Amino acid sequence: MNILVVGNGGREHALAWKIAQSEHATEVFVAPGNAGTEREPKLKNINIQATDIDNLIQFAKENDIELTVIGPEVPLSLGIVDRFEQEGLNCFGPTQKCAQLESSKTFSKDFMAKYHIPTANYQNFTDPQQAKAYLETQSFPIVIKASGLAAGKGVIIAQDLQEANDTVEDMLSGNKFGDAGAEIVIEEFLDGEEASFIVMCDGTHALAMASSQDHKARDNGDKGPNTGGMGAYSPAPIVTDKVHQKVMDEIIYPVIEGMKKEGESYKGFLYAGLMIMPNGEIKTLEFNCRFGDPETQPIMMRLESDLVELVFAALNEELDEYEASWSKKTALGVVMAAKGYPFDYPTGEAISGLTSDDGKCNKIFHAGTTSHKDQVLTHGGRVLCAVALGDTVADAYDHAYQLVDKIHWDNEYHRTDIGKKAF
Ligand code: AMP
Ligand code: GLY
Repeated sequence: MNILVVGNGGREHALAWKIAQSEHATEVFVAPGNAGTEREPKLKNINIQATDIDNLIQFAKENDIELTVIGPEVPLSLGIVDRFEQEGLNCFGPTQKCAQLESSKTFSKDFMAKYHIPTANYQNFTDPQQAKAYLETQSFPIVIKASGLAAGKGVIIAQDLQEANDTVEDMLSGNKFGDAGAEIVIEEFLDGEEASFIVMCDGTHALAMASSQDHKARDNGDKGPNTGGMGAYSPAPIVTDKVHQKVMDEIIYPVIEGMKKEGESYKGFLYAGLMIMPNGEIKTLEFNCRFGDPETQPIMMRLESDLVELVFAALNEELDEYEASWSKKTALGVVMAAKGYPFDYPTGEAISGLTSDDGKCNKIFHAGTTSHKDQVLTHGGRVLCAVALGDTVADAYDHAYQLVDKIHWDNEYHRTDIGKKAF
């Protein structure tokens, strides 16, 4: 069958690469894709943006697309799945209403409160004076979040009252995040270790993907500004069997059942960002209504099952009859970014060393890249993710960084400690 993957990041390169390995896949199109998807043998880029829903529908109809998989959150928040379904087209992802779990942090917090899903204590605000009055009564550090989509950059951990007041001012009065910051959440700071818990949902059942851990801060030692993620590895040893079961019982299934009570069926990937606290409590930091980036890249390296079969099982509401099988190895991915990310950074720089991977034990997934004649140029903040498998986290670390060392461009930047916490 013909399959369409929507998006242009590292996540979509990894998803499309895995989908293309399915025996069910004839042609796999990526809209719009990047220089990496363009170079994969079974993938074909098409020049339609991920948010151009009308043209994506028209393309799907004209090219006998039997399955569309949505990568990023923005088209989901615009209701791309609802629109495809109205046209009778198979499309994997949550509806616009379900996607509010990610697109509105105030919705998400109120949903968690309503359905008793463990999360940090919080209050929502639109009025700066009320927010500041609330801050007077709180202890520090405290966490302030723009409610809308902000590409992982809309969360500030304020160390004292002054910084918190300035942040409230920036978001609610100063328009720092535009409409995304017109509503904010102020919540309790939680201390613990983070993990990414991603499942596939079919409206009633959930099938867990392999566990993983992201590195959100830009610099070594988890220092520097928050980013979309600078590297990830899978599995994450902190997600023990006991933690796994607790997350399924206390977080994942309550979301699915809560959505049912709201009249919605949650189908698609669901990502719970967890804080695992020293006392064993597990709280939800956030929900994403899609796969993680860069978590997808190491997770797809370990997936041995046919992803297309799993997606159809979810669309047909029979995920309870399926299992996913995973390589016993650890996969570790290092994001190679443009120097300056997540702020201003140069683009258009020529990249060398891109054929250094073997596609089995190690793999270079592209994110912000574009083709110019026969060269590949940088075209975004997060440019590549170099992933390798290993028998241990330390082994995967060595192999991944050996791959990183073979890739060059002028203003390249990466962390050198991805996964180090685990060995
Ligand atoms: P979010 O987009 O809500 O996951 O927040 C981005 C990052 O901010 C998280 O991955 C955490 O590192 C940090 N963070 C968010 N909420 C909290 C919290 N309540 N306590 C401590 N850190 C947090
Ligand atoms: N890596 C974090 C995210 O995808 O939101």
